[in-house]
Amino acid sequence: MTKNILVPVDGSKNSEDAIQKAIELAQACNAKLSFLYVANINQLAINACLTEAILESVTKAGDVILDRAMEAVPEGVEKEAFSETGSPAVVILDFLEEHDVDLVVMGSRGLGVMKGVLLGSVSQYVVEQAKCPVLVVK
Ligand SMILES: Nc1ncnc2c1ncn2[C@@H]1O[C@H](COP(=O)(O)OP(=O)(O)O)[C@@H](O)[C@H]1O
Ligand SMILES: [Mg+2]
Repeated sequence: MTKNILVPVDGSKNSEDAIQKAIELAQACNAKLSFLYVANINQLAINACLTEAILESVTKAGDVILDRAMEAVPEGVEKEAFSETGSPAVVILDFLEEHDVDLVVMGSRGLGVMKGVLLGSVSQYVVEQAKCPVLVVK
C-alpha cells in the first residue's frame, strides 16, 4: 500500500503538475503527502559567492512554493512541508534514507533551461538512485 508520498517541488510547471498527480494518488490511497523544497546551493555557488542574504531569499522563495503546494491539498489529506539546503538530488536521496517514503512523484524537468532532454539532472538522479518507485510527471 502507498502510505507516504514524497513530492520534491521547485516551482516549475512540471513540479506543479506533479503536485496535482500526487494529490490524486494520496486521495485514492489515503496516503500522506510530504513536500520537499531544496534551496540549491550548488547553483548559487556558481552564480555568486554564497552570502546569508542570497540563501535567505532563495529559502523564502521556497517557502512560497511550499505554501502553495500545501494550500492545494484538500481537507482530509495529511500533509507536511520540508525545506532543506544543499544539492537537490543528494538531499532528496538523503530524505528517502531517513523517512519511510514508498512513492516519489516529481516532474521530469524543472527550472533548467536545457530543452529536448527528457529528464533533468535531479529527476534522472532520483530515478536511478531511489530504492522506491518514482513517478515522473511530464
Ligand atoms: N531544488 C529542488 N528542490 C526540490 N525538488 C526539485 C528541485 N529541483 C528539481 N526538483 C524536482 O526535480 C524535477 C526535475 O527537475 P530537474 O531535474 O532540476 O530538471 P531541469 O534540469 O529542467 O531543471 C522537478 O520537477 C522537481 O520535482
Ligand atoms: Mg533544475
